[in-house]
Amino acid sequence: MSKIEQTLSIIKPDAVERNLDGQIKEMFVSNGFRIIKEKKIQIDKSEAEKFYKVHETKPFYNELCTYLSSGPIVVMKLERENAILANRKLMGSTNPKDAEEGTIRKKFGLSIDKNSVHGSDSLENANIELDFFFKI
Ligand code: CMP
Repeated sequence: MSKIEQTLSIIKPDAVERNLDGQIKEMFVSNGFRIIKEKKIQIDKSEAEKFYKVHETKPFYNELCTYLSSGPIVVMKLERENAILANRKLMGSTNPKDAEEGTIRKKFGLSIDKNSVHGSDSLENANIELDFFFKI
């Protein structure tokens, strides 16, 4: 069943640093996403730790949080039918080496850490992550 959903996308520091945010936004729009809200920000490490709390037991957690807070990011509220799944498909596999042709991570990702974009993995997490960045 198709339903309109909203999801969070982050264009990560490696992509913003290479001025790829315009091209990545184009890919979202040409794949039927509407950009409802967006802002370019830099977060500090303690905010990155809060955002990635689900990964706190993972060996890569510290490096991941240092990286996300290392430079400007673009955070977006995206909307379309089945947005969660469609965004995950468009991003491609977490590791750019395994990502399918035509996906954002295949095109722009540098490594599993510098994989250019983050997207919510479920409707529940999308609501939590959207609140994290966009709660007024
Ligand atoms: P993201 O979708 O932002 O969610 C968590 C991030 O951890 C992931 O993208 C990767 O960039 C990063 N990461 C680093 N090492 C790993 C790993 N071994 N497995 C999964 N994610 C990893």
